[in-house]
Amino acid sequence: MKTNVKMKKKMGIVLMSAALMMPMAVSSVSADTVVQGTVISSTPAPAKTVAAAVPTPVTAALPNVKILATGGTIAGSSASNTDVTGYKAGALTIDTLINAVPEMKQLANVSGEQIANVGSPDIDNAVLLKLAKRINELLASDDVDGVVITHGTDTLEETAYFLNLVVKSDKPVVVVGAMRPATAISADGSFNLYNAVKIASSPKARGKGVMIELNDRIGSARYITKTNTTGTDTFKSVEQGYLGVVSGGNVFFYNESTRKHTTQTVFDVTNLTSLPQVDILYEYQNNGSYFYDAAIAAGAKGIVVAGSGNGSMSSVSSKGAAKAAAQGVIVARSTRTGSGVVTHSDSDDKAGMVTSDSLNPQKARILLMLALTQTNKPSEIQTYFDQY
Ligand code: SIN
Repeated sequence: MKTNVKMKKKMGIVLMSAALMMPMAVSSVSADTVVQGTVISSTPAPAKTVAAAVPTPVTAALPNVKILATGGTIAGSSASNTDVTGYKAGALTIDTLINAVPEMKQLANVSGEQIANVGSPDIDNAVLLKLAKRINELLASDDVDGVVITHGTDTLEETAYFLNLVVKSDKPVVVVGAMRPATAISADGSFNLYNAVKIASSPKARGKGVMIELNDRIGSARYITKTNTTGTDTFKSVEQGYLGVVSGGNVFFYNESTRKHTTQTVFDVTNLTSLPQVDILYEYQNNGSYFYDAAIAAGAKGIVVAGSGNGSMSSVSSKGAAKAAAQGVIVARSTRTGSGVVTHSDSDDKAGMVTSDSLNPQKARILLMLALTQTNKPSEIQTYFDQY
């Protein structure tokens, strides 16, 4: 630890957050890729120093909350405390994150597990399955009252919606991230994490489906989406609104999702070792149908179209989609507009296509993957889109 602190002083870093007063796991940055200014770690880099979790006695009166860490900016680190774009996501371990917010221990008996430590663009189907299975295992136990997942914000909504469809418990599950790395002035991660534990500890949060917490807002995994590249108020649910807020240290709920979730869905990950391949194709002027050929050739079982407007497609794309449908690939029309329902018509049924309701393309992909674990009949898959 001494070496770390000395090194940081030498580098002129001002350590503002409690996290940074703790021994910090500073990972090497080899094997990283840079996506839009953010360093995304594709492999969990070995930590030079790993902070030991501060042993805390279990208090019987408090709920037990497990934090599962996957990486992201909430576990991000940079050599500069004004750097909020060029940092390394997934650099700090779960122990460091927990030790940074000792106040959480007044809310719950908190313990952590590292599921992955990557930037969220690298969260893949294998991580989704691992996470979901572990959450179901934990929540089946009387010793766990709620689960918090720390996650990068870029694909957070996809993981949250996946869990919303496969977690088999009414106990609270909260996915939390941050827009500023832990090393930044005014980093948002610590308070977001504190609030997430607050929600996961609250009996009021039971039965709400999987929730996300950032910027004091509680969003439904079904409705929430990332809307801004760098702002801390990026998670919005413009059409349907938030479920609630955390304010003045209390949790307030105002809305509920009307769509089926968690214990109400037919999906079961228990025996799944992989998920069917579903790709997303973006609609634009002058596009070709060769992307459909490529997706089919690569083994896609489903294709989500990020259509223009109300899920519209060019005549060239429609031919590509018809070719896919003729080979048994399920094509789902969604929209690139960012909001609104893609309305279903007889022509979809005739073409063997489904529509995504109000799911954006990335969430439609999640539902289509799970739907394909049950059936490949378009009419049955459409009922999932209508209900979930
Ligand atoms: C990521 O999604 O892992 C990087 C960006 C973020 O967490 O805000």
